[in-house]
Amino acid sequence: MNATQEQLKVKFEQALVAAFGADYAGVDPILVPASNPKFGDYQANVALSLSKRLGKQPRAIATAIVDKLDLSDICEPLEIAGPGFINLKLKTAFLEAQLNAIQADPRLGVPMAKTPQREIVDFSSPNIAKEMHVGHLRSTIIGDAIARILEFLGHDVLRLNHVGDWGTQFGMLITYLREVYPEALTTANALDIGDLVSFYREAKLRFDTDEAFQETARQEVVRLQAGAEDTIHAWKLLCEQSRLEFQIIYDLLDVHVMERGESFYNSFLPGIVEDLDKSSLLVENQGAKCVFLDGFTNREGEPLPLIVQKTDGGYNYATTDLASLRYRIQQDEAKRIIYVTDSGQANHFAQFFQVARKAGWIPDDVELVHVPFGLVLGEDGKKFKTRSGDTVRLRDLLDEAIARTRADLEARLQEEERQETEEFINNVAEVVGISAVKYADLSQNRTSNYIFSYDKMLDLKGNTAPYMLYAYARIQGISRKGDINFQELGDNAKVILQHPTELALAKDLLQLDEVISTVEQDLLPNRLCEYLYELCKKFNLFYDRIHGVPILEAEEPQRTSRLILCDLTARTLKLGLNLLGIQVLERM
Ligand code: ARG
Repeated sequence: MNATQEQLKVKFEQALVAAFGADYAGVDPILVPASNPKFGDYQANVALSLSKRLGKQPRAIATAIVDKLDLSDICEPLEIAGPGFINLKLKTAFLEAQLNAIQADPRLGVPMAKTPQREIVDFSSPNIAKEMHVGHLRSTIIGDAIARILEFLGHDVLRLNHVGDWGTQFGMLITYLREVYPEALTTANALDIGDLVSFYREAKLRFDTDEAFQETARQEVVRLQAGAEDTIHAWKLLCEQSRLEFQIIYDLLDVHVMERGESFYNSFLPGIVEDLDKSSLLVENQGAKCVFLDGFTNREGEPLPLIVQKTDGGYNYATTDLASLRYRIQQDEAKRIIYVTDSGQANHFAQFFQVARKAGWIPDDVELVHVPFGLVLGEDGKKFKTRSGDTVRLRDLLDEAIARTRADLEARLQEEERQETEEFINNVAEVVGISAVKYADLSQNRTSNYIFSYDKMLDLKGNTAPYMLYAYARIQGISRKGDINFQELGDNAKVILQHPTELALAKDLLQLDEVISTVEQDLLPNRLCEYLYELCKKFNLFYDRIHGVPILEAEEPQRTSRLILCDLTARTLKLGLNLLGIQVLERM
C-alpha cells in the first residue's frame, strides 16, 4: 500500500465509525486500484462486504459512508457505481503536490522500513571445487537484488554465502592433490591447479576406478574431520583456488557476499543431534539418526525421516543447515532468514524448517523463507548447455553477453556515423551485457523456468535492460541538448499536469513506494521490473512526437514542469535499476 492509499484508508475507517458506530472500527475498506482508469484511480469495495452484517443494500451502505467522508483535498467528488462500489479519482492538484514532494526527496517518496530488522539473505552458495553453474548465477542475481532492496529500506542485511566447503568429496580431492601436486602440500604458497572443474573430474575418475585410492580417500576424510594439519592445509588450498574463481564472477556482477561456508558450523553439529535427542525427536533408523516428518512420505507412502547423522557417524547437508539456522537466530539475531535456491531444494527447506520448529528453535518473531526459482533453459526448451553439450561456464556466458553487446553497439555506431573511444565502447558493452543477463533473469517471475536467449535479452525493444538503459540515456540526452542541469530546476519550479500522457506518467511515478513495499514482502523482483518497464512506456508516450507533448520547445511554465517529469523518470529508473543491481549509463 502506498502513502496515498494509507491516507485514504484512514479516512474510510473514520467514516465507517461515524456512519455505523464504534463496532465498525478497524473494518477494512477494501481499497484496490481501479479496474479501469475510466472509473478513477481506486475503488472501495467495503459496502458490498458489509451488506450481510448491516442487513442493508450495498448501495445504501455506500451512500451512508460517502456522506461521512470528506476527501475533498485528495479526490474529485466520489461516485457510487454498480451494486455499491465507491470510485475515487485523485485530484490533479493532489498529484501535482505529491510529485513536487518526491522531486525534493532523494528517496523519491520511498519511506524507510517502520521496523528495521536484521535480515539474512543466504544466496549464491556454490560448492568448492565444483562448477558454479547457472543455478548459482540465478541465486546470485536474485539474492543480490533482494538484499539491495532490503538494505535500501533500512534493514540490517547480512549477505551470506553458504558455500559447500565440507564433505566426503574432499577426501578424494585431497588424495588426488597429493598425487599430482605433492609439492603444493609443503609450500605455504597459493597453488595454481588450473581449472578446478577438470581437476574434480580427474579426481573422480581415479576414485571410481582404483580401490586403493578409494581407501586412502576415506582415511583422508577421517584426517580432515580430525583436523590433521597437512590435510587441513590441502583443504584450504582447494578452497582458496575456488574462491578466486568465484570472485571473478562476483566482480563481473558487482556482487558482494560474505563467505560463511558449511565448514563454519562443524563444531555445532554434535550439539544439534544431542539437542534433538533431548527433545525426544530423535529416532534410530537402520543405524542412522533421524527425525520423522509430518506430511512427507516416500514412494511407498511410508513416513519419511530426515537423517541428521548417518550410520558412519557423519553429518549431512540438513544437519549443517539446522546448525546454521540456530546460529543465525541465536548469534546473528536474525528476524527473517531468506534462502535463495532452485525450487528443487524446496523439500529440503520445508523439512529442516519443520524439524527446527518441532525442536522449538524458531521464536515466534522469526520468519524463515525459502525463495525458490525455476531452471534456466536453452532456447530449445531443454537444459541449458553449450552446443557441444557441456555445461556452460559462467565466465563464458557473461563474456559472450558482453561480446555480443559490443558487436551490436559497433554496428549501431557505424550506422549512426558516430565516433566513440575504445574506453566508451568497452564500458557500454560491459554494463549493458551484464545488465542484460541480470535483467533477463529478474524480469521473469522467479518461480517459473526461464529461457536463456541472448537475442531476447539484448533487444533494444521490449522488457529488457537495453530498453530501460536506453530510456534513461535518452532523458539525459534531453538535458544535454537543452543544456539543462536537472538538479538546478529550482525549488519553486512546479509540476503542472494537463496532458493525458503527463497524468499517466505522473501516476506511475507515484507508485514506486508501493512496488518496493510489495517486493519487500513477496520477494519477487520481477514486480519492480514490470513497474520500471511500464514507467518507460509511459515516458516514451509522453515524449512521443505524435501522442505526447513538446518538452524543450514548450512554453513556460509547462517546459520546466515537463523537465521535472523527465528528471523524476530518470531518477526513478536509476534508483529502480540500481536496486536490481544494474548500473545506468549517461550515454550509450
Ligand atoms: N551449496 C548448495 C548448492 O549448491 C546451496 C546452499 C544453499 N543454502 C543453504 N543454506 N542450504 O545447491
